Amino acid sequence: MVTATGSHAGDLLIGFQLKFGRPLLKMAMAGDPYVELLLGTDDPRPLYDKMRAGQPLFRSKANALVITQHTLGAQVLRDRRLKICHTNGKPPGRELMDKIGWDGSILGLDPPDHTRLRRLAQPAFTPRKIAAYRVGVERVCHELLDAAQRRGEFDLIRDYAGPLPIAVIGDLLGIRESDHEMFYRHGRVIGSIIDGVKSLAMARDFRVAHGAYLDLFRELIQVRRAAPEDDLISELTAARDEGAVTEKELLDLCAVLAVTGFETTTNLIGNGTLALLSNPEQWEMFKKDPELGPKVVEETLRYDSPALQGTRIPHEEIEVAGETVGVDRALVVLLGAANHDPEVYRDPDTFDLTREGEPDHLSFSGGIHFCIGAPLARMEGDVALRVLAERMPGLRVAGPLKRRSSPVISGVSSFPVTSI
Ligand code: HEM
Repeated sequence: MVTATGSHAGDLLIGFQLKFGRPLLKMAMAGDPYVELLLGTDDPRPLYDKMRAGQPLFRSKANALVITQHTLGAQVLRDRRLKICHTNGKPPGRELMDKIGWDGSILGLDPPDHTRLRRLAQPAFTPRKIAAYRVGVERVCHELLDAAQRRGEFDLIRDYAGPLPIAVIGDLLGIRESDHEMFYRHGRVIGSIIDGVKSLAMARDFRVAHGAYLDLFRELIQVRRAAPEDDLISELTAARDEGAVTEKELLDLCAVLAVTGFETTTNLIGNGTLALLSNPEQWEMFKKDPELGPKVVEETLRYDSPALQGTRIPHEEIEVAGETVGVDRALVVLLGAANHDPEVYRDPDTFDLTREGEPDHLSFSGGIHFCIGAPLARMEGDVALRVLAERMPGLRVAGPLKRRSSPVISGVSSFPVTSI
């Protein structure tokens, strides 16, 4: 069994997969744009264009049918015949995740378990709750910028966009003040797993951080059982006691909010800031009218989506775009490509806050797995970018940026800025 301290056999397997998996993939599938994407690139757009140029379904040698079109992508994500898991009950890529002890909770489940667990988490994201979190988000934004301002030059990701979502989800779950530091420290490691396991050290760090999170949640459940408060852990504990959820499901549900809510929101704020600073006329427009915040968020999500893929699996033979797709054949919707589909977006590669009458982006996916945290992410993005524009109108890039070359997440890992 893989534990928080790790298992030697498990580590050997992870190490083998990481060491030999990529070079083998590279050799076997040279010239396949989807494989090139999986191997990592700083600019996926030429690869998207290559896949878009052929049939609606791009047949990748990586055993996936890849979709770049917006209309077809939206249809596939919403198709109730398609599932998250293969017919063997496991979602794609599960082996490595199992080895590090990470259960994807609702991210890796189909109905009826998905429906039951999603319903339990939903009350944390009602409009009333989102409005209540807003004040706290504003406070944290100002505190982070106070510290950044004292430094003069700072890193937008490390010092602002990174810590904010961790603090927000800590509040939503009900993490106590005394545990904030450890919640943040381990949260950075937990969140990074959304990008996949990149090294043995990362697998080990994840096990330790995940173990610490589970211990923290277990302890908090005891505390809230005795004295419930207005937070998600109290609500989930009540559901546990009524038999609606097992202890393990409850713990995994808390952890999945960290994995899904940290890096994505960080990159929404980072990508939005980058798009604004790279398009000075749009930055000026926003500074003059901070009420454009929600528009900045939506255009950032379309223009540079933090989440890049959604996968669905047929459990019966189906027709997609006139082609027959067999059971268990993965259909991968490239969200970033669909958001730049020239069939539905005018000048798709232009960041333009005045867009109107175009369909919604697919950055939060669609159908029954539509991002449950979308209202929270939208509010956090709005507040974070607004506070930044109001407090630092002279913000500018102060050094070389480092882009993440991930097929799953789009963003920058290092973003030096200054406002003086
Ligand atoms: C800009 C920020 C975010 C983006 C771009 C994003 C994107 C996504 C996407 C694409 C999916 C669907 C995956 C699929 O279809 O298979 C998803 C699901 C999910 N997201 Fe988000 N997300 C963001 C923020 C958040 C936040 C803040 C939270 C929670 C606090 C969150 C929690 C979840 C959960 C729990 C799921 C699984 C939903 C389900 O399967 O029913 N996300 N997200």
